[in-house]
Amino acid sequence: MTHVYIDRIGEFVGQTVTIKGWLHNRRSSGKIHFLVVRDGTGFLQVVMGKNDVPEETFKAADHLSQESSIIVTGTVREDQRAKGGYELTAHALEVVSTATDYPITPKEHGVDYLLDRRHLWIRAERQTAILKVRHEIINAVRDFFNHQGFILADTPIFTPAACEGTTTLFPVQYFEDETAFLTQSGQLYNEANAMALGRVYAFGPTFRAEKSKTRRHLTEFWMVEPEMAYADLNDVIALAEGLVSSVVARVLDKRATELKVLERDTSKLETVTTPFPRLHYDEAAKILLDKGVPFQVGGDLGGTDETVLSQQFDRPVCVTHYPAAIKAFYMKPDPNQPDRALCVDVLAPEGYGEIIGGGQRLDDYDLLLQRIKEHQLPPEAFEWYLDLRRYGSVPHGGFGMGIERCVTWICGLEHVRETIPYPRMLYRLYP
Ligand code: 4AD
Ligand code: MG
Repeated sequence: MTHVYIDRIGEFVGQTVTIKGWLHNRRSSGKIHFLVVRDGTGFLQVVMGKNDVPEETFKAADHLSQESSIIVTGTVREDQRAKGGYELTAHALEVVSTATDYPITPKEHGVDYLLDRRHLWIRAERQTAILKVRHEIINAVRDFFNHQGFILADTPIFTPAACEGTTTLFPVQYFEDETAFLTQSGQLYNEANAMALGRVYAFGPTFRAEKSKTRRHLTEFWMVEPEMAYADLNDVIALAEGLVSSVVARVLDKRATELKVLERDTSKLETVTTPFPRLHYDEAAKILLDKGVPFQVGGDLGGTDETVLSQQFDRPVCVTHYPAAIKAFYMKPDPNQPDRALCVDVLAPEGYGEIIGGGQRLDDYDLLLQRIKEHQLPPEAFEWYLDLRRYGSVPHGGFGMGIERCVTWICGLEHVRETIPYPRMLYRLYP
């Protein structure tokens, strides 16, 4: 019999096909079983009448438990009332393996209970919808850069020094007497790659020993980082706008089913078109103070500040020119306002906060060396990075976009922990 995946079932109306999956749930009346089967691509109701199958088959279905793996053969029927629009009238059922006492039942479970069973929780309809949106976002990101001629160039995960401040480094014993650190960002290597290839992107896992327990922080997350030679802050902002709007459009186009499962208000995503509003840090500070938020001018925007700001707009907002003193060592100061960095953070709307951080890089050798020292970073570890300013330095810039932050926003989730199959957080390393 033809093995068919549930998401393609509509192409087989009137035909006899086989579905291979797991029992999601079951309802029975004396003469008929309704089995909802899932196979990863979707959910399908299987109707098994007592008179349509051998007696043993009907009996077997009677005791079938949640998440038992099953193979069902039957005829595909169109049915407007059925979820997904199709049903299968069963002729045969094979039980591959019986699941006894599956721990995640349709009742409510606490989130810690679910996270302890994350390897099973990902089978839930909501969770599969989120992971499919994640998949779509990642593909949209890759397509966006590939179609524009960016070259994917990978950056190392074991690194000898910090990129984003020394307080969030994860040390790793590197053979006998060396300490490596898990990368916080591929940016510095990306800059070297851009000098070789023009426009590049890196896409991989990054690590931050964030001691904060917030709904936005993971200790392991995926970041896409484009970097462009011969680019200024405006080019970086334009690239960020283009990326975010094209990712959102792609998810709206291809993942309507999943967004519906997630009960996402898609009208809030349809407004995400370019250009995005831009706010100078000083304007952002003024908005916060006018709203009565106790914001310390000169400081970084905290989670609450970002939430308040991002609620003011119907699309992402680009905040620029943060005080250089609170930003990373590699940021180029604004020549017109040297205490400010030529940087941009993109804040997602609806209170989701920062999804992108980036800007123009410091391309002057002397000032870069001075900054490395001011930040008490070991200059020896940055010799190779300084080479980029010794040999053909050019204005350049780029940014990093956190995939999980994007998934959280686009799916309309409360917490970043559901956006990756196995979240890593301050108190979570299992499963
Ligand atoms: O703003 P960040 O720290 O910027 C950088 O790392 C730059 N070196 C990137 C670059 O210019 N190439 O991080 C970039 C993005 C954030 O905007 C956020 O989306 C995500 O990475 N991010 C996190 N996501 C989840 N958990 C965390 N702990 C994150 N920290 C940053
Ligand atoms: Mg940032």
